[in-house]
Amino acid sequence: MHRREFLKTSLGGALVVAGGGVVATRLLQGGGPAATIREIRLKAQVADWQVGPGAATRAWTYNGQVPGPEIRVQEGERLRVVLTNALPEPTTLHWHGLPVPYAMDGVPELTQPAVQPGETFTYEFTAGPAGTYWYHSHVGYQFDRGLFAPLIVEPAREPLSYDREYVLIFDDWLFDPDRPQPDPAMGMGVPHARPLSHGPGVFRPQPLYDALTVNGRTGDHPPLMVRRGDRVRLRLVNASASTVIPLRLAGHRFTITHSDGQPVEPSEADLLRLGMGERYDVLFTADAPGIWPLEIVGAGRHDPGLRVRYQGVRGTQGSGAPSVRPMVSNYRDLQGMQGWAAQAPDRIYDLVLSGGTASELGAWTINGRRYPETEPLEVRESERVRLLLRNHSGMAHPMHLHGHFFDVVGPDGRPAAAPIRKDTLVIGHGQVHVVEFTADNPGARWLLHCHHLYHHHGGMATEVRYS
Ligand code: C2O
Ligand code: CU
Repeated sequence: MHRREFLKTSLGGALVVAGGGVVATRLLQGGGPAATIREIRLKAQVADWQVGPGAATRAWTYNGQVPGPEIRVQEGERLRVVLTNALPEPTTLHWHGLPVPYAMDGVPELTQPAVQPGETFTYEFTAGPAGTYWYHSHVGYQFDRGLFAPLIVEPAREPLSYDREYVLIFDDWLFDPDRPQPDPAMGMGVPHARPLSHGPGVFRPQPLYDALTVNGRTGDHPPLMVRRGDRVRLRLVNASASTVIPLRLAGHRFTITHSDGQPVEPSEADLLRLGMGERYDVLFTADAPGIWPLEIVGAGRHDPGLRVRYQGVRGTQGSGAPSVRPMVSNYRDLQGMQGWAAQAPDRIYDLVLSGGTASELGAWTINGRRYPETEPLEVRESERVRLLLRNHSGMAHPMHLHGHFFDVVGPDGRPAAAPIRKDTLVIGHGQVHVVEFTADNPGARWLLHCHHLYHHHGGMATEVRYS
């Protein structure tokens, strides 16, 4: 999973290499392209994992690796994933960002019964729209133990031109996920009870992480090789449970092309901030030969030590100097590709995000209530629904909607000229963001929750309910 030169997969061939992982991929040929089914087998299992030099650990994995195998499909292809649960607990798969049919969404007890140990469950859906996504377990705290991986849906015709591509998935890592350290900054001196299932009232204090990883490694990640003159595409995914990833590449400037897999007007930035669950696709031009740190700003000794290295350049030292006044990406500076005419929504929901108070540590609320006591958002098919997301707490909340994209019509409460389309949006401390979605994926109950895993299970979740 480390290094990925861009591989154009050839459709219709007997074997399609899915990102060099150990995915057994079979194409089941039918009458035409619409009948092509890509079948992938995933086994959720506990395995030893070498996270860095001298840092062997046990992780919860798909097919014995962290991240799990990258899944790469073409837009419109049928994807069939056969999941076998070899874990000691029930599990599920969630396709983060993909608007899959309700029964395939992988939320235990909401969209399906969890897959019991020893059992197999088959997920199947048509992949689309094109973009950078990821998949992860949606049971309890499982994805914090390693149960996550990238999922790339390629467009039928790629509008961007570039010479190579790397997929980078970031994670905050515990060497021993069975014994997270209570975070003294949170005042959590108490030993936690190990949660066994997704459920209200099962709360675990947020741990202090031992490391930050990229593609499951820290410390000795092989460099990303480039050639002078290359246009390089990075697909960036933040799979962390509770860490925002501020990323920069010394000596280079990013051009943001996609946010949460959806195209945006190309926009420049030196520093990107990826909230938990968010994705960005960026391009950069390799025009400064050297060895440059791709750095998680502020991570200090936790930085995974990833480098971009030009072919033919020797040495081990990074040669990066920070730009004096970095351009920081901001939702307000991003423009979507589709035009937009404001229209009166059919429904408006005002959601106040709060919690984290000293009197109620670990409790995170929407309009003062913790899931499942939060009020569900009732919608009818094809309605336009507006959400006002107001953060009255001291922490940022990456709010994620299942089954739908939303348009960010009011970043920071100001009307957008061309809204960006996302599935996960970080609401900063004190901020108000206005988003709208069209209720176009009927199903009984879809989750809307904070993707900070400890806030989610602390109660910051609600449901969109079709009636
Ligand atoms: Cu990435 Cu509710 O999930
Ligand atoms: Cu949160």
